[in-house]
Amino acid sequence: MSEELKLNKNLSDEEIYLQLIASLHHLFVENDKILSALSNFTALLKQAFEKISWVGFYFLDGDRLFLGPFQGNIACVEIRMNHGVCGASAYKKATLIVEDVDKFPGHIACDSASKSEIVVPIVINNELIGVLDLDSYEYSSFNEIDKKYLEELLTIFTKKIDLGKFKII
Ligand code: SME
Repeated sequence: MSEELKLNKNLSDEEIYLQLIASLHHLFVENDKILSALSNFTALLKQAFEKISWVGFYFLDGDRLFLGPFQGNIACVEIRMNHGVCGASAYKKATLIVEDVDKFPGHIACDSASKSEIVVPIVINNELIGVLDLDSYEYSSFNEIDKKYLEELLTIFTKKIDLGKFKII
């Protein structure tokens, strides 16, 4: 992976996502170590968007999600399936956009300053691997544009690093 990334932040979110998609191809290569690639993937998103207060992975082991590589404040280490936004997204295998976390029943407040959230499940061959969680200190930070491009970024990224092989232990 190239160690330097120049992102133009004076762009719309959609334009930033298009920059990220273009960068993915040279930032990550097939023989990257999975843990290293996951760490840099979270850094890439945090660096690209000022609206993100926290971004990280949770991976499924048994019936729980466990904290993986992330950027931001320390966070909850494990989340039960169908609990919180992450557990609900994992259970439904669907992206969830939460405009106001206080209105989401069962939201898990790892950081009480967090106001909105998006969680994208990682599903490979119909099997749930984990989720990517993004938080913001502003209300309604995430919308259908984020959903579309985060899903696309994850699809490209997970194929490139063969994430189906990853096990959190
Ligand atoms: N808010 C999440 C928990 C994870 S933290 O935000 C990092 C949830 O409700 O699942």
